[in-house]
Amino acid sequence: MKTYKIAVIPGDGTGGEVVREGNKVLTAVAEKYGFKLDRHEYDLGGERYLKTGEVLPDSVLEELRGYQAIYLGAVGHPDVKPGILEKGLLLKLRFSLEQYINLRPVKLFPGVDCPLKNKKPEDIDFVVVRENNEGLYVGEGEFINKGTPQEVAVQVSRNTRHGVERCLRYAFEYTRKRNSKKKTLTLCGKTNVLTYAFDLWERVFHEIGAKDYPDVKRDYAHVDATCMWMVKNPDWFDVIVTDNMFGDIITDLGAMIQGGMGIAAGGNLNPQGVSMFEPIGGSAPKYTGKNVINPLAAICAGQMLLEHLGETKAAAEIEESVKWVTAKKLKSLAAGKMGYSTTEVGDLVVKGLDPKARIA
Ligand code: IPM
Ligand code: MN
Repeated sequence: MKTYKIAVIPGDGTGGEVVREGNKVLTAVAEKYGFKLDRHEYDLGGERYLKTGEVLPDSVLEELRGYQAIYLGAVGHPDVKPGILEKGLLLKLRFSLEQYINLRPVKLFPGVDCPLKNKKPEDIDFVVVRENNEGLYVGEGEFINKGTPQEVAVQVSRNTRHGVERCLRYAFEYTRKRNSKKKTLTLCGKTNVLTYAFDLWERVFHEIGAKDYPDVKRDYAHVDATCMWMVKNPDWFDVIVTDNMFGDIITDLGAMIQGGMGIAAGGNLNPQGVSMFEPIGGSAPKYTGKNVINPLAAICAGQMLLEHLGETKAAAEIEESVKWVTAKKLKSLAAGKMGYSTTEVGDLVVKGLDPKARIA
């Protein structure tokens, strides 16, 4: 039987609860479609750091390179200074494993309450391809005269031709393959102000687009206008490609227009290496241990993981089941307001893997 080696990092807060439900769904769907997921759990996160001072030991990082994918819950602990786990664990994994794409589908599921008036599932269905290894996230910069009235803080956005090009190529390929009539890739930038970084992005975009992807339409929007259109006319978008920082910001906006953190999932992809899938919401300390958090985002991250492994039928089945659960079962996507516990939502998704169950 086909077996995939998966590393599981439940992480902090509600991460464990949502990953538990995601794993439940993955196990059920694997059984149905005849493959196996050989999962190994790692206790990385805030608790381990507080106990041992370790965030991501080199030996663990080396081990993680041996998996076919990583399934991550959440990173962030109320007793750990902000930045330590984010930089030392999440960003370190993204950078060390060269997961240079952050793929974020923005999709409104049926029955989900959308904060935008009169928007339906057919209006909100696009994907953000966020560059995941460069830009402002490289952490380059300095303080000059720190602590004095003359202080200067410099933070550099580093964009390499290689990094920009591989991200754009991924986005073009993705747009080409995507099942959409628009076949349009929108570059989101700020060419009117960031005249170095986005000059490079724009040049490479049109250069490789014209040469290698003539079948994909090219469009451009400044990041501020992108925010405006995401609210006003989200149906205009097919695939958006952007740098790390803008991608971070617009994907939170994307999560909100698709119904919130309860459903938003993402993949950190290294198309040639080890990719990592995660719900994009945080560790939600105030809901931890209460069995009230929404596991659908983690379940959708599991769906992306299977899709990435090539188990497309199993992945599609999860998506159908999640649609059934949002359309017919949940009262709301918000923690504590779903009308079901975390565990029950996981059980419902397992039940809905059977098309016959979805009739009800
Ligand atoms: C995300 C998160 C991270 C980021 C944080 C936790 C470092 O907000 O995945 O979008 O900024 O990329
Ligand atoms: Mn973010």
